[in-house]
Amino acid sequence: MATISQPATRAPQSGLELELSLELLGVVEQAAIASAKTMGQGDAKLSDHAAVESMRASLDHVPLQGTIVIGEGERDEAPMLFIGEKLGGGGAGAPEVDIAVDPLEGTNLCATGAPGSITVLAASESGGLLHAPDCYMEKIIVGPACRGAVDLDAPVKDNLAAVARRLDRKVDELVVVVLERTRHQKLIGDIRATGARIHLIQDGDLSAGIATAVLGTGVHVVMGSGGAPEGVLTAAAMRCLHGEIVARLVVDKPGTIERLAKMGVKDPHRIYKTEDLAPGKSILFAACGVTSGSLLRGVRFFKDGTRTQSLVMTGAMNKVRFVDTIHVAASPDARIRFN
Ligand code: FBP
Repeated sequence: MATISQPATRAPQSGLELELSLELLGVVEQAAIASAKTMGQGDAKLSDHAAVESMRASLDHVPLQGTIVIGEGERDEAPMLFIGEKLGGGGAGAPEVDIAVDPLEGTNLCATGAPGSITVLAASESGGLLHAPDCYMEKIIVGPACRGAVDLDAPVKDNLAAVARRLDRKVDELVVVVLERTRHQKLIGDIRATGARIHLIQDGDLSAGIATAVLGTGVHVVMGSGGAPEGVLTAAAMRCLHGEIVARLVVDKPGTIERLAKMGVKDPHRIYKTEDLAPGKSILFAACGVTSGSLLRGVRFFKDGTRTQSLVMTGAMNKVRFVDTIHVAASPDARIRFN
C-alpha cells in the first residue's frame, strides 16, 4: 500500500507530502478563482460547476494515482468528481492517494456573494479517509483544548459546560455555530437555555468546524447535523489542527443502511471520532477562500492579477500554512502590492 509520505526513507520536510501539498494548494486556488468569477450570479449550480471543472482539470496534472472517496456524491448529482472516479497525472509508480473533495463548500454563499465559501480537498494514503455516503451526519466539533470533553449523547448543557471549563470561560462567553435549519429547532432552544451565544449560519459547517481549532476566529463549538462528506473533511483538517469532531451518520431514509453497507460501514449507528473518520498516517488538507469569511479571505481580482488566501496543512509534518498567493498577470509591467 503506497503512502503519501515515506518517513522511513525520507526526511519529513522533503517528502512527497510536501510536494503534494504544493500541488494541491494549486488545485484549490484555481477552483476558488474559477468559482469566484461566478460570485453573486445567483446560480449555485454554475458556481459549483466552475469549481468542479477546475478541480478535475487541475487534479489530472498532479503526479498521483488518485481515487475520489468523498466526492460530489449522489446528493448533488454531479456529473464529475463522483465517488470512485480515478484521476491524477501520475503513471505507474506514482503514489496511490485517496482524495476527498468539496469543490465548493457553500455553493449558495458563493452564488449570493455571502461570506464563507471555500474550495476544499483532502488526501491520504489508500484507506486513510472514511468512505462516507452523501447523507447527513450529527456532529460536535471543538478545538484542541476541548478534545475528549464532548459526548454526542450527552445533554447540550453538559457539553457546553465541559467546553467552557476547558476554555476557562463562562458558558455565556461561548459562541456555538449552528446551521439555521428547522431540524435544529430543539438544539437551538437547548443552546439558548444555557445562555451560550449562537451564530446561526446559512451554510458552511466545514469552515465553521475548522474555525473552532483556530484561535481568534471567535468560534468555540459547532453543533448539529450537516453533510457527512463535510464531516470527513473536517476530520482531515482536525488531524492537522489537533481539534476534535465526534459524529454519527443520520440513518433516516429508506435504503440508507443498505447504501452504508455497500460502502463498508458495518455499524450505521457508530459514533466516530476524528481518527475514525480520517485514520490515515499521512493527511493533507487544502482549502482556499472564495468569498471572505472568518477563516480565509476571498478571491480578489485586480488589474495586474488575482490574489487568493489558502490554508494548507499536513498531519505528519505538523505544518499549518496560511498561504497568500498573488497570481500575477503575464505582463512585463505587472505590479504587486504588499497586502
Ligand atoms: P453545499 O456547499 O454543497 O451547498 O453544502 C453546504 C452545506 O451548508 C454544508 O456546509 C453542510 O454540511 C450541508 O450543506 C448541510 O446540508 P443542508 O443544506 O441539506 O442542511
